[in-house]
Formats: sequence, structure tokens, C-alpha cells
Amino acid sequence: MSQPTATITINLDALVSNYRALCSMAASGTCAAVVKADAYGLGVVPVARALAAAACREFFVADVNEGVALRAVLPSADFRIHVFEGVDDASAEATMAANLWPVLNSDRQIDCWQRTARRVGRELPCTLHVDTGMNRLGMPAHDALTRAGRADGLHGLALQLLITHLACADDPANPMNAAQLRAFGDVTAAFGNIRTSIANSGGLMMAPEYHGDLPRPGIAMYGGNPQPGQDSPFRTVVTMTARVLQTRQVAAGATVGYGASYCAPGTRTLATLAAGYADGYPRALSNRGWVAISGHRAPVVGRVSMDTTVVDITDLPLAVSAGLDVAELIGTTISLDSVARWADSINYAVLTGLGRRPDRRYSLVAEGAADR
Ligand SMILES: Cc1ncc(COP(=O)(O)O)c(C=O)c1O
Repeated sequence: MSQPTATITINLDALVSNYRALCSMAASGTCAAVVKADAYGLGVVPVARALAAAACREFFVADVNEGVALRAVLPSADFRIHVFEGVDDASAEATMAANLWPVLNSDRQIDCWQRTARRVGRELPCTLHVDTGMNRLGMPAHDALTRAGRADGLHGLALQLLITHLACADDPANPMNAAQLRAFGDVTAAFGNIRTSIANSGGLMMAPEYHGDLPRPGIAMYGGNPQPGQDSPFRTVVTMTARVLQTRQVAAGATVGYGASYCAPGTRTLATLAAGYADGYPRALSNRGWVAISGHRAPVVGRVSMDTTVVDITDLPLAVSAGLDVAELIGTTISLDSVARWADSINYAVLTGLGRRPDRRYSLVAEGAADR
């Protein structure tokens, strides 16, 4: 079998170190971990095991299927698994069987979970999401206040946590942040002594009142910069590399790739790399991205195609050999955030778009903590 086209290396030590850094930033000293979408595309099994070994006890996933899959990895009830999309009649049984905590987003979802509790004859744990301006998921604040005021509002439910989600945590100066905090404060006061969860990664970089008792970071753990306006204190987690398949010299006027969108301004030396958009290398990097070979940057020329990308290595101070050299597409020299910016995208989309074809390697955290 020949070598794989591209390799994605996930540094679990860096992931854990970012998680610990986030915990130490949190006012409460602890954080949950958002591991939805297969841990932002990095692989929920090794990621969750590494975080569990680092004493993370609360996890957030998107839906019941992700919750059931995560419960199989972390079977102990010590690990709390919150499901952002909540519960409905179709998912109630599986939610209960896997001991998941639905994040209830509406009267309909609360009623459903109360019916389930009545059926099984015991209180069921849950989290309540209060919408304070995101207008995506969650109960409007006034509906949550109405619930809090009703004697039977949450009857049969063991409410564990109140959450809200900031719309502008990547922009700390945005007045929306303070407005959301005020709206959430009005609701939490009405519910009494219940734990709260406000901050995502960006929120954790803001003042402690934005954290709540249980912040829920995702992107910063995975090495993304949560506030693009500032330098990131987080370590690189994902490295993507591709082998050099072929090099060639072209004369002035030669074009590269589909659509002949690049035209050499003079004699140039080009290298064809074994990674393309099918590997998750964004096509939007055509004629815009940069890679690094032995730490030296080379621009992408022509269109990124399905399996290959061509870069201009003319100005590199070293020889590049097909079959031997490897280019870094994402990593410590070519940051995830730069790739996202060049692609007119965001770090979340680049990570979750990483392809299935590249070989995946995980660094180890501790004996038994990670997939090998
Ligand atoms: C409701 C909610 N909370 C927390 C997070 C984690 O956010 P981040 O990855 O920006 O830290 C997300 C991610 O999209 C989310 O949807």
C-alpha cells in the first residue's frame, strides 16, 4: 500500500493543556467541554478520553445520537453529558437509557421531559437554555420567567443547570454581551440557587461575570483563536501535512490547474502536494493560501483540486524533493486561523471540514487515555 495522501496529527497533549488553561481562566476553576460534531472534526473518542483523563466531567454534544455515542465511551454516570438540541418524543427513550441530560429549549421540550418523568415515575435531570438574544435555540427569557413562577413549572424534573449563549463573545466590546448578561441575570435570580453556564471560549476571555459556574469552551481547546482581534494563548492541536508528489519548472506564461487561473509571471518552480479539497483543504485557498516546507512559506498557485494543490517553491532557500519532502498545510507555521482567514471562512468550519481520507494520528496523553 502506498503512503496516504495527507496526514492529520492531533496533539492530545496540547488539547489537554488548552483545556487546563481554560479551567484556570474560569472564575469557578472548572469547565465543561463542547465535543459536538465529532469533537469539531477531531474525533470524539480520543478527544473525550483525553479530556476525561484530565478530570473533565461535563460534556456538551449536539444531539441524542452524539450523546449515545459519547456515553459508550464514558459509561460512568460521573460523566455528565448535556444534549444541546434537547429532547422530543422520538428521542426521549434513548436520552433516558443513555442517562443524557437534555438541554431543554422550549415549553414543548419541557412538557415532553415531564411526561417522560411521569411515565418512569422518577425525577429526570435536565438543563434549561434561556435565550437572551441569540434567537437560535433556547426559551425566551419571559417564557423562562413564567415557568419559574408556576408551581408545576418544572415538576418532575431535576433542574441542574441554566445556560445561555453569547452571540458576540468573539468581540468583547460589543454591547450585546452586557445586554445578554443582564437578561440572563433576571432569569437566574428567579430560579434561585441553580448552577449557571454562560461562556464559550470567547466568553472565557472576558470578565468573570461572563463565565457562569460552568463555562463551555470548544474552539480554544482545539487550538482555534476565539477572539480574532487578539493574539491567542492556546496551543496548536491540529497539524495537517501533505507529501510533495512532483516538482517542475515552468516558463513565463505557463498556467496551472483547472481554469488556468494562475499564469506564471516568469520561470517558476512548482511543487504538487498530495492534498486537495477532498482532504478538507479548502478550495477557497485557490491562489490565496500558503503552505510551509521546512518552515519556509510557499504560496498556493492555481485552483486547489480534489486530490492535489500546487505551490510555488521558487523562492524557497532549499531544494524540495518529490517523494521526500512534506508541506505543512495547517500547523505551527501555517496557523488554523490564517487558513480560515485566507479562505474567507472560520476556524470552526475548517476543522469540521477536515476530510476522512487523510491518515489520522493522535499523540498520547497518558497510558490508556487515548486511542492509539
Ligand atoms: C451553545 C454553545 N455553547 C458553547 C459552544 C462552544 O463555543 P466555542 O467553540 O466558541 O467555544 C457552542 C459552539 O458552537 C455552542 O453552540
